Amino acid sequence: MKILFLNGPNLNLLGQREPEIYGKTTLADIEAKVKERGEKLGAAIEFRQSNVEGELVGWIQQAKGKFDVIVLNAAAYTHTSIALRDAIVAAGVPTIEIHLSNVHAREEFRHKSLIAPVCAGQIIGFGANSYVLAVEAAFNVKVNH
Ligand code: DQA
Repeated sequence: MKILFLNGPNLNLLGQREPEIYGKTTLADIEAKVKERGEKLGAAIEFRQSNVEGELVGWIQQAKGKFDVIVLNAAAYTHTSIALRDAIVAAGVPTIEIHLSNVHAREEFRHKSLIAPVCAGQIIGFGANSYVLAVEAAFNVKVNH
């Protein structure tokens, strides 16, 4: 079981960025938690972040044949990026959408996800734990795919 975690723009600033919304945990801390859970469940985890839309598109494309599941926190690109949505469809790798914050309890522009219709499911609003829950969800997705 190989899971590719992809993180979009500004998530490199977790811990210092709006901690009242995103918490004080850094992305490195989250990566460590995810890898610990992955080890327990027998999943190999690759964890990446980029502020560049095209780089995320490239990583999704390259995941085909290499990873069983993608877990994607597309950050602000969730609400804007047709390119990410098309890449998910093109790669054909089952993808789980995740967010730290409950986007539905925030500004209206965060209520719409362009990637949701092409994702296997969403995990939203559990802070850093959204990432850990996604490791477990990845096994469900693989079984049902
Ligand atoms: C986010 C929610 C997005 O609306 C926002 O642009 C982010 C982070 C989250 O994890 O809560 O950058 O994806």
